[in-house]
Amino acid sequence: MARIFSGIQPTGIATLGNYLGALRNWVELQQGEDECIYCLVDLHAITTFQEPAALREQTYTMAALLLACGIKPERSILFHQSAVSAHARLGWIFNCVARMGWLNRMTQFKDKAGKDREAVSTGLFVYPNLMAADIHAYHATKVPVGDDQLQHIELANDIAEKFNHDFGVSFFPRIEPVILKETARVMSLRDGTKKMSKSDPSDQSRINMTDDADMISSKIRKAKTDPEPLPDNLAALAERPEARNLLGIFAAVSGESQEALLARFAGGGFGPFKSALAEALVAHVEPIGRRTREYLADKAELDRILREGARRAAGIAGPIVEKAERIVGFLPGAA
Ligand code: AMP
Ligand code: TRP
Repeated sequence: MARIFSGIQPTGIATLGNYLGALRNWVELQQGEDECIYCLVDLHAITTFQEPAALREQTYTMAALLLACGIKPERSILFHQSAVSAHARLGWIFNCVARMGWLNRMTQFKDKAGKDREAVSTGLFVYPNLMAADIHAYHATKVPVGDDQLQHIELANDIAEKFNHDFGVSFFPRIEPVILKETARVMSLRDGTKKMSKSDPSDQSRINMTDDADMISSKIRKAKTDPEPLPDNLAALAERPEARNLLGIFAAVSGESQEALLARFAGGGFGPFKSALAEALVAHVEPIGRRTREYLADKAELDRILREGARRAAGIAGPIVEKAERIVGFLPGAA
């Protein structure tokens, strides 16, 4: 039995990109043998400023959404990161293992910091070290993520290797990303070369998992496309990122292959294709939004689920991180 760990930031509303790239896999992985640990990474969230009341609300919303997508708290461990101190403790050790040069190469930091490098928080810079700690605190070996996180997974392996090497141990195992290829990256509805993101200023660029049927249909109707008709083969879409993206989404939510969809819509314009896509999307996404609102109506129950998850998570990560602290040379603290 392997252990699976993944995390999502409780900021903004999860998009179809989060769902198809990550959350759907989280749900599927529960069917297997492996132990699944899913974390709302609030420590990561505050690397950019969050209004406290909004952070609280979004943590509840993300928990409700995960439950609505089908995460089963009896089967998987679901909790918020700040509730388990092992993350921050191992994160600090990793801050002292990782090298500035390694972090300087992280493309996500470069993207997020932009021209403002001097003004971003230092937390944003060391964020990948904390992500490595999240995973290694559980000796997890499989990490389901979208492909934008691959560089961080490699870094987590480099950190573990250096820790093992520096202290002459083989304590932290290698980790493997788990990626579903077809929808590894869902792109913006306004620009097929940019990933769909919950932080994009334009709400029209994304499907939010809480959008209602009208909203979903209207966003798909207005989604950017090109004037050419749909081709009868995938290769012909190579230079048409918007069309490729919509086709990928359609295949993912309908369960039909991209080839089969092209065979059905080839030669036509985007009108009928978009109507069918909107219908498939609404059928898939709207029930999740509705269940999310139902879970959100009972905060006491969400608290209970998250606290129970944190208790189980701490039971695994506590002893592992304590061992790491002994390896580093820290004296034991209070029992
Ligand atoms: P974030 O929204 O950055 O907190 O990402 C949470 C998870 O969703 C990560 O595993 C990401 O790789 C995944 N993800 C975010 N946006 C997309 C996207 N547009 N396509 C595919 N996966 C995504
Ligand atoms: N950095 C990830 C993201 O932005 C979220 C994350 C934090 C994560 N810790 C993790 C993902 C550990 C997988 C494993 O999407």
